[in-house]
Amino acid sequence: MAAGAGGEKRILCVGLVCLDVISVVDAYPAEDTDTRCLTQRWQRGGNASNSCTVLALLGAPCAFMGSLARGHAADFIVEDFRRRGVDVTHVTWQPHGDVPCACCVVSAASGSRTIVLHDTNLPDVTERDFARVDLAQYKWIHWEARNAAEQERMILRVERHNSALPPAQRIRTSVEVEKPRDELLPLLAHGDVVFISKDLAKHFGYNTAAEALRGLRSRVRPGATMICAWAEEGADALEPDGTLVHVDAFPPERLVDTLGAGDTFNAAVIFALSGGQSLRDALTFGCRIAGKKCGIHGYDGIV
Ligand code: FRU
Repeated sequence: MAAGAGGEKRILCVGLVCLDVISVVDAYPAEDTDTRCLTQRWQRGGNASNSCTVLALLGAPCAFMGSLARGHAADFIVEDFRRRGVDVTHVTWQPHGDVPCACCVVSAASGSRTIVLHDTNLPDVTERDFARVDLAQYKWIHWEARNAAEQERMILRVERHNSALPPAQRIRTSVEVEKPRDELLPLLAHGDVVFISKDLAKHFGYNTAAEALRGLRSRVRPGATMICAWAEEGADALEPDGTLVHVDAFPPERLVDTLGAGDTFNAAVIFALSGGQSLRDALTFGCRIAGKKCGIHGYDGIV
């Protein structure tokens, strides 16, 4: 497939896709008890995959790049990507390993989501897989930090590609570092936009988004914009010149399902920035769409 309809350039998200088996419970169960849930469903999950869902719902032509292995879970996942109109040309089919699967408990009482993910033996996509991506089709590429060393080399390829182009034609890049794992931290030094999670910020001992952005600033490259969402506190961003932007959250009337709220925020911010909106407007849009997501189950109805 060429770029989107009418030749519009696309957004590519690189990272995890998994199967989420979601049980909605009225209240979070105690350990070693035997209870019934209210509803149960399968949902395509994984940060980069969820962000693609949201981008597609927002109307952005987009593609997912990540690994799968043949079987029932992959059939369900690919069918779901197709249903949403997410391009799966760049899925790497691994001959060995299991599709990651998560048991997710969503509490109807609080909207909390508790995730237990099995993500152990399916190899991630590599620099070699990424070499096959026709960069000319993309205007923005986003990486969910996973196999950081390979991902750094993918980003360097995009930087080399960009260096031969006038600024208006360059691919913009973003990186999300969500999990507080040391091997992921070098990725903070890459990307035009760096998303830092509340989890990571807390891991470093920061208690607010603003503190985290200022404290981690020396780890991003000059010229990068840093963004940190903080649930009901909204989101902050630090511009390359050190200006801090804060936007309040848009909480739904009732918190229903927070699974994938961060991925929704990232996608909405990328959508807005890639469409030329200001950082403040993009953060506002991100908070608004993420807030809406928290008020519904799944993603249908966020726009
Ligand atoms: C939500 C999510 C789920 C998945 C888990 C993986 O952000 O991507 O869909 O099970 O996180 O960490």
